[in-house]
Amino acid sequence: MTQHFLTLLDINKPDLEAMIQRAIELKRMQKAGEVFEPLKNKVLGMIFDKSSTRTRVSFETAMAHFGGHAIFLSPRDTQLGRGEPIADSARVLSSMVDAIMIRTFDHEGLTQFADNSSVPVINALTDTYHPCQLLADVQAYTERRGSIKGKTVTWIGDGNNMCHSYINAAIQFGFHLTIATPVGYEPDAQILATAGDQAKIFNNPLDAAKGSDLIATDVWASMGQEEEQKKRERDFADFQVTAETMAVANSDALFTHCLPAHRGEEVSAEVIDGSQSMTWDAAENRLHSQKALLEYLLK
Ligand code: CP
Ligand code: NVA
Repeated sequence: MTQHFLTLLDINKPDLEAMIQRAIELKRMQKAGEVFEPLKNKVLGMIFDKSSTRTRVSFETAMAHFGGHAIFLSPRDTQLGRGEPIADSARVLSSMVDAIMIRTFDHEGLTQFADNSSVPVINALTDTYHPCQLLADVQAYTERRGSIKGKTVTWIGDGNNMCHSYINAAIQFGFHLTIATPVGYEPDAQILATAGDQAKIFNNPLDAAKGSDLIATDVWASMGQEEEQKKRERDFADFQVTAETMAVANSDALFTHCLPAHRGEEVSAEVIDGSQSMTWDAAENRLHSQKALLEYLLK
């Protein structure tokens, strides 16, 4: 069976723990200037149906550092954009490249692609999940505070793809998750239920943030929801992460945002640019943690 990474639940807990440690080691090796090329002659296909800065650059750089190559594919210039069936595309692409990374809308489309791929498929964001970001976030927390196991993490904002991946991460990395969303923006009930009493919903951000070790948030309108921006600004008005939110969390609590961020909407500039923010470490860690992921999937 081909090992894919469509959600964090696809990789067992000990292997995920080891991947975080490996990411920390790969980061150290790169900073020390060590050349390490375990993926010589390997090729990663990268399909982007949505925009990206970090995901594209981190995967492409990872493959270059590892001695391999990455190919950027957009629907504008491939037959995927002209309606070639996903299954046919998966079958052909996977006969040529060694792994495929996909950023798309519908999670079902990703699953269908993986079912027809003979090489590992990586979820680089769908409407439902963003597992790669969680590897980077858990790495950043671990680097600053040690293991995230047993800690309390708070998600404030939309019950979106990032929130769903935080729910999966709570299960896989063993932390408690408190989630504060406006009414009507809760995460998917089935996904939430998988975490049992490890994930709890609140409708007041300060209640959720009380005693937290890490506060995470994301944009109010995700890619594909641009027309809802104005309505969401009204609905989420009480859900900005501010100094007041950080003040009710534990004194050594950290803040993170997957980026891109809208200062003055989901987070104040003071918090994202302040000393408790691990946002920039997490962004850099996309490179290191995805190196660990690629090494794991292609070993
Ligand atoms: N956080 C993240 O996935 O960033 P990009 O959309 O820039 O890839
Ligand atoms: N929830 C955001 C994350 C971007 C990295 C989106 O899907 O647009």
